[in-house]
Amino acid sequence: MKIGLMGLGTVGSGVVHLIEENGDAIEKKIGQKIEIKKILVKDPEKKRIKEAQGKITIDPYDILDDPEIDVVVEVMGKEHPALEYMKEAILRGKNVVTANKEVIAKHGKELIKLASENNVNLLYEASVGGGIPIIRPLKSCLAANKIYEIKGILNGTTNYILTEMKSRGLSFEGVLKEAQQKGYAELDPTDDVDGFDAARKLAILCTLSFNKYVMPDNIYTKGIRTISKEDIKYADELGFTIKLIAYGRLDENEKLEAWVHPVMISKKNPLNGVNGVYNAILVEGNAVGRLMFYGQGAGMMPTASAVVADVIDVANHIPTQNGYDDAAMKDIVDTVSKYYI
Ligand code: NDP
Ligand code: HSE
Repeated sequence: MKIGLMGLGTVGSGVVHLIEENGDAIEKKIGQKIEIKKILVKDPEKKRIKEAQGKITIDPYDILDDPEIDVVVEVMGKEHPALEYMKEAILRGKNVVTANKEVIAKHGKELIKLASENNVNLLYEASVGGGIPIIRPLKSCLAANKIYEIKGILNGTTNYILTEMKSRGLSFEGVLKEAQQKGYAELDPTDDVDGFDAARKLAILCTLSFNKYVMPDNIYTKGIRTISKEDIKYADELGFTIKLIAYGRLDENEKLEAWVHPVMISKKNPLNGVNGVYNAILVEGNAVGRLMFYGQGAGMMPTASAVVADVIDVANHIPTQNGYDDAAMKDIVDTVSKYYI
């Protein structure tokens, strides 16, 4: 099975390393070899990892028009031109795997419809929670439930910043640079710091959980920019930790409460102990009860783990089930937000 990889930054390099390292074991599991045939980048002059030699291109049509490529893995980031490349890939009958929460949150509805019409998969496990399995569980393992509530820590960069500010008494700016160096932050770290990344992820989770199209704009969003060392210290003295929380709940009148903002978390709350780049997602379903998904929410190899798992699902011919049943979906028109949980 041949892959066209679009993007060779933090996540793209992780995908290359993971296929290199675990390729033989994966081949034994699925009965076919996964091979990266071409890699799209922006800057042809940049020094690249040795495994990428001879595969680099700056022309997306080298991938899109290659009939041997079965799967396009989009890990470039940003809304454009990623959206257009994904559409072009789907229209050419290629499966698409992406880690791009911005595109899925804003355009999931049309992309998933397009993928279904063209009988290909559009898989996006890495778009929420980095290495944590959460999209697939919501689509399949928990499909028998009515999901009432979904809440958690959905951004690794801000959780890393808040954790380090607390443990080392550092300022916000100093720790942001560290998160960028570790490859956790978005290209524009404003997306992390001001809560937009978490809101996009929450929009995806709410859409999957509540059977309603929830757009990031529906979600009240406030980031951590104004949180000072002193806020964190005083919260600690009162027995609380400040965390950037994403919260979604559908009430009995079908009204959606959805917000992302900093919250004081008591020591008894399981989210209190989620530190550094780790994310955690608490899901409440009417049959299963409460579940907690926990793991590294960003970074090269955890994210590559989720991306390559999607590629393996395509190889295993998991039937096309892209997550949204368009006929059953409704648009959310009204939302509410609260300052406590
Ligand atoms: P990086 O900025 O590290 O890498 C982006 C890559 O895409 C680079 O190789 C860049 O090329 C290439 N690229 C960007 N724009 C274009 C373009 N227009 N044409 C061709 N190539 C392009 O991003 P990340 O790897 O961190 O993130 C990739 C995606 O994964 C994003 O959607 C992000 O939200 C998502 N994600 C990231 C996680 C993380 O921990 N970093 C975790 C989960 C999801 P060049 O090398 O030439 O600059
Ligand atoms: N910038 C994102 C984060 C990457 O810090 O959580 C993972 O989606």
